[in-house]
Amino acid sequence: MRVTLRDARRADAQAIAALHHASWHAQLSTCLPPAVVEAHTLDARRAEWHVVLADLRVEGAVVRLAENDTGALVGFAHAGPARDCPTDVVVAGELYRLYIQPGVQGMGAGTALLRDMARALAHHGAGRMLVRCWAVNPACSFYERRGAVRIGLASKSVNGHILEEALYAFELASGRAPERF
Ligand SMILES: CC(C)(COP(=O)(O)OP(=O)(O)OC[C@H]1O[C@@H](n2cnc3c(N)ncnc32)[C@H](O)[C@@H]1OP(=O)(O)O)[C@@H](O)C(=O)NCCC(=O)NCCS
Repeated sequence: MRVTLRDARRADAQAIAALHHASWHAQLSTCLPPAVVEAHTLDARRAEWHVVLADLRVEGAVVRLAENDTGALVGFAHAGPARDCPTDVVVAGELYRLYIQPGVQGMGAGTALLRDMARALAHHGAGRMLVRCWAVNPACSFYERRGAVRIGLASKSVNGHILEEALYAFELASGRAPERF
């Protein structure tokens, strides 16, 4: 599938929230405790995305969208400065989120967005890109096969459940994404 990437605008909030909700539930609803799954509502996603897109400049973050030939949204990525990384590894940039619409996964959009975000963070001087992924999420292997190195595990309390988050680092070579992307 050929995708075109562009920066998100505030008017994209509803479409991004709908895709995020659908992709998150398709991937994680059977892996995480029911109380955690139920807390991830579409309304909560909509509210979250209005704030994310309004605060992009303040956060120094970027949201990139992938669209197909007909201009339909098929995925998005959100990245920016690293948020406290609980390991000794120094990371400056972080991929906060990467989601592809169910039904068009496995067609290259995720890799295209990953590469784009790695380049953007490297361009802003980040030597490493942090990615957090629930340890039970099959997406861990997607990052590993693209060169991410597991640098730790973090426990996080979510709706009364302690969940394990796998922490990955991508080495970003002087403004370029890693070769294997
Ligand atoms: C993981 C994800 C971002 C990959 O993007 P994609 O466009 O599907 O992947 P690509 O077509 O670029 O690459 C294909 C690879 O992804 C793997 N893949 C496809 N769908 C996947 C899925 N749902 N979960 C994990 N890996 C998946 C394929 O097996 C293939 O692996 P390989 O090339 O390493 O052998 C995407 O599948 C997705 O959005 N998953 C659900 C949401 C999620 O878990 N996001 C990550 C949160 S940390």
